[in-house]
Amino acid sequence: MRKIIPQVCRVVSNRKLNSSGAYFKIAVEGFKLSKRILPGQFVHVKVDPGNDPYFRRAFSVADFDKATGRLDIIYKIVGKGTSILGNMRKGDSLDLIGPLGNHFNKPGKNKNLVMVAGGVGLPPLLFYCRYLLNSGYPSKNIMFLYGGRTNNELVELASLRRLGVEFIPCTDDGSYGFHGLITEALKAKLPELDTNKTMLFGCGPEPMLEALQNLAIQHGYKGQLSLEAPMPCGIGVCLGCIKERLDRPKKYVRVCYDGPVFNIGEVKI
Ligand SMILES: Cc1cc2nc3c(=O)[nH]c(=O)nc-3n(C[C@H](O)[C@H](O)[C@H](O)COP(=O)(O)OP(=O)(O)OC[C@H]3O[C@@H](n4cnc5c(N)ncnc54)[C@H](O)[C@@H]3O)c2cc1C
Ligand code: FES
Repeated sequence: MRKIIPQVCRVVSNRKLNSSGAYFKIAVEGFKLSKRILPGQFVHVKVDPGNDPYFRRAFSVADFDKATGRLDIIYKIVGKGTSILGNMRKGDSLDLIGPLGNHFNKPGKNKNLVMVAGGVGLPPLLFYCRYLLNSGYPSKNIMFLYGGRTNNELVELASLRRLGVEFIPCTDDGSYGFHGLITEALKAKLPELDTNKTMLFGCGPEPMLEALQNLAIQHGYKGQLSLEAPMPCGIGVCLGCIKERLDRPKKYVRVCYDGPVFNIGEVKI
């Protein structure tokens, strides 16, 4: 049984990442529950000290420094919970549970990795990419595609460029980088990729993940996808986040407990 203890952390910064103000990065310190957080895992955040909203909100870990216990979350303001988070200031307290869920696997060093991040799917793949590079994975073997609707929806571009991997930004409206859907940018790259040596990793909106999974299955690529679902409990007990398996119809997974990372072809998106 996983240890589940809420802990109160201290906000050390909370800043806007783009001019429209929709994207923020919050950093907290004092995260002592775990000395190890792996890319793909998430924290369940109580955004209000009272009970409104009642349920916690799930956020992927965008970075973690085990020496200080500093944990970063990159988030987009979409509703009540994320708006409350957007008003947090340095010195405020934030109640977290985690790390929860599973994580992306570490592939062999001879593999070529293609990471496909759409919108708020960026944080876990940014963490994964940094983690692999820090553990000696060759940067020349990683391609990172990152897409948003328009240029103001793309954040952390400087950090992404600093990674030194092949970086392909895309926007639906052509205002920055490749003009078109991220899966179209990937299709344009497919002729350069060796199916047997390449693994795909994705996180982003469901339609993007569905298209990515279909493309991967059609061309025979292996890899992993991080899924999202509403998560009332986050610990596997409420069944609020179930999805049907693709490989075993009428069998179900709990995204929070069995995932959020699943192998390509495992879950119906
Ligand atoms: C494992 C996991 C990791 C996540 N990581 C991140 C992250 O790193 N950064 C980030 O910005 N967001 C992330 N999310 C999504 C985040 O949990 C939601 O944006 C958040 O719960 C919205 O809360 P709210 O109160 O602001 O919005 P609500 O008022 O609850 O909802 C506002 C709108 O957002 C939609 N929405 C709510 N939850 C989700 C969801 N889970 N997926 C898609 N749409 C949703 C609702 O349908 C509604 O349209 C993650 C979700 C999961 C399950
Ligand atoms: S959120 Fe309750 S089982 Fe997944």
